[in-house]
Amino acid sequence: MNIRALLLAAGLMFGSHTVLAAEKLLTIGGAVTEIVYALGKGNEVIANDITSVYPEAAANKPKVGYMRTLSAEGLVSTGATLIIAEAGAGPRNVIDQVRNAGIKVVQLSESVHTPQQVAADIRTIGKQLSATSTEQVARQYENAWQEAEAKLAALPGHPRVLFVMNNSGRGAQAAGDETAASAVIKLVHAENVMAGQYKGYRPLTAEALVAAAPDVIITTNEGLEASGGLQNFLKTPGIDLTPAGKNKRIVSMDTQYLLGFSPRLPAAAVELGEAIRKQ
Ligand code: HEM
Repeated sequence: MNIRALLLAAGLMFGSHTVLAAEKLLTIGGAVTEIVYALGKGNEVIANDITSVYPEAAANKPKVGYMRTLSAEGLVSTGATLIIAEAGAGPRNVIDQVRNAGIKVVQLSESVHTPQQVAADIRTIGKQLSATSTEQVARQYENAWQEAEAKLAALPGHPRVLFVMNNSGRGAQAAGDETAASAVIKLVHAENVMAGQYKGYRPLTAEALVAAAPDVIITTNEGLEASGGLQNFLKTPGIDLTPAGKNKRIVSMDTQYLLGFSPRLPAAAVELGEAIRKQ
C-alpha cells in the first residue's frame, strides 16, 4: 500500500470529506515514551517503538518496530496525528516522508547524553503536549539528579570499565566515545577503557579486549541473554583473559534503564556506580 492509500485508510487526508479527530500520539524512543507518561499523557498514546519498555502500560502498546530502522508505512498505518521522536530515530528519509505525508513530527534535537538534556526534553515535550505538570515533573527530575550526583561523587575510585552491547543481532560491540554508554560511564566517575580510540560501537575482538584489560565489564540484560547467559558470556574469546572475566566482575542492567537518558537516569546511574564498585 502506498502512503496516500494508507493515509486514506487511516482517515488522515486533509480532503473535503475527512475531519481530523482528537490528537493520536505515537512516541518513538524509550525516553520520549517515559517522559510522556511522567507528564500524565500516556492515555493519548496509540503506539510506540520496541525501545518503549517502561512503564508497563507503554510496553503493552502496539509497536512500530525499532527506532533506528523505522518504515514510513509502519508509522503512517498507526493513524497517528502527532509523532514525537528521539534524536536518534530514523532513517531520516523515513521521517521526511512521514512529514511530507502531512503528519506532524516533533523530533528532539541532537542527543548530547547529559542529565541536563533530560530536563530540557521534559520541558520540550511538556510544552508540545500542553501538559500542566511540566515544571513539576522537570523539577522533580532535577532534584533527583542532584541527589544522585552527590551520591556518585562520594563513591570511591575510578574503575576501568568496558561496555558491551549485544542487542542488534550483529554480535557483541564495544562502546567508544560519543555513545550513551560512554556518557553514563563518565557520570558514575568510571573510566571507559575504549576512550580516545574510536567513536560509536565496534565489534569486540579478543585482541582489543586483552589490550584494554577492563576491571569490570558492563553489559545489558538483553545482551547477556543473546550471548546465552552469564556463563557463556564469560567464555567469549578475550573476555576470559581480562581481569573482569577472570574475577567474574560483570554488571548487567536493563538497556533502556541504563542508556535511555530518561527520567530514570538518576536511579540508574546510582545503581551502576555502586554495582561496578562491588567486589
Ligand atoms: C532490532 C535490532 C536492533 C538493531 C539493528 C540495533 C542497532 C543499533 C545501532 C546500529 C546502534 C548504534 C550503534 C553505533 O553507534 O554504532 C544502536 C544503538 C543503541 N541501541 Fe540498538 N539495535 C537493535 C535493538 C535494540 C533494542 C531492542 C534496544 C533496547 C531495548 C536497543 C537500544 C539501543 C541503545 C540504547 C543504543 C545507544 C547505545 C549508546 O549510544 O551507548 N537496540 N542500536
